[in-house]
Amino acid sequence: MSVLRVLITGASGYLGRHLLAMVPADWVVWAGYHAHPPTTRPRITALRLDIGDATATLNAVAAIRPDLVIHTAISRRAEDFDRVIVAGSGHVAQAAAAVGARLIHLSTDILFDGMAARYDETDRPCPEPEPGRPDPLSPHGRAKARAEMRVRTCHPAPTIVRTSLIYGFHPPDHSTSWLIAGLRRGEPVVLFTDQIRRPIYVFDLAQALIELAGSDFTGVIHVVGPTALSRYDFGLLLCRAFDLPTTLIRPEPTPPDVVAPRRLDLSDDLAQRLLCTPRRRPDEVCRPGAAAIPFEGL
Ligand SMILES: NC(=O)c1ccc[n+]([C@@H]2O[C@H](COP(=O)([O-])OP(=O)(O)OC[C@H]3O[C@@H](n4cnc5c(N)ncnc54)[C@H](OP(=O)(O)O)[C@@H]3O)[C@@H](O)[C@H]2O)c1
Repeated sequence: MSVLRVLITGASGYLGRHLLAMVPADWVVWAGYHAHPPTTRPRITALRLDIGDATATLNAVAAIRPDLVIHTAISRRAEDFDRVIVAGSGHVAQAAAAVGARLIHLSTDILFDGMAARYDETDRPCPEPEPGRPDPLSPHGRAKARAEMRVRTCHPAPTIVRTSLIYGFHPPDHSTSWLIAGLRRGEPVVLFTDQIRRPIYVFDLAQALIELAGSDFTGVIHVVGPTALSRYDFGLLLCRAFDLPTTLIRPEPTPPDVVAPRRLDLSDDLAQRLLCTPRRRPDEVCRPGAAAIPFEGL
């Protein structure tokens, strides 16, 4: 059995932890983190790495000589967007290119402005505001758009995976945690009816990345959930999975002063043709009580 040497950046993050739990038997993994060391197991070595540091990133990747880099790391702090999301993605891409490694770069739907009915892989992200057009992109979305551009200039053949809301139960992702914490405190929770996304179950995304890693696909691919849903409709399904009442959820349109794209319906026709990994509908995943089913492994 030939072994694949894989560096996963952001291995301590939400997606990264699930990916680590699923690594195939023929992978040897370096699990990149910044502040929170991930749990290591046989074949998984934790690697502290600040991707905002170009020299450290180049040196670390040169020492590992991975065959594949899966780049999931981001910062959620606005002051780090340029350094970590934009420059850091460039450093990772450059370092992967220098050792001839394949690169899978995780990207997002929030780099589109939400003005189109649907987006496919040929649609252009919005790295800068365009004069005369409304600008619903957040600084985070803008940084991810610039990160994609940086990655393309630093690596000859990246695979860019644009995804949407990543959700799961064990533990819940950040947005789901916020929702259930509010409801458990007995507080009303507003969920927007006009923000449309294609939520994807974290295990399905992780499996799709593993499948992509075994393919020779390069270019942009949308790996999103199969159903376009409003935040409100998705929230109702999450309540079902967590056995929580929906009476405290208030459906409302996004207030005009909130900067956020509204409809982010990414076409997944290419993923449907290319990938065998099933991407389950949220109504299948969020069966009544689904979140209470114990899961060992993270
Ligand atoms: N979550 C979503 O709903 C969603 C939606 C669309 C796209 N995506 C994309 O999916 C990917 C994974 O997202 P996620 O939600 O799993 O992210 P996350 O949970 O916020 O994890 C971020 C990871 O990046 C690491 N990190 C932070 N600063 C770093 C630095 N300077 N150098 C190296 N690593 C650093 C963190 O390490 P420490 O914890 O050790 O500090 C952590 O492992 C991202 O590329 C994101 O854009 C996510």
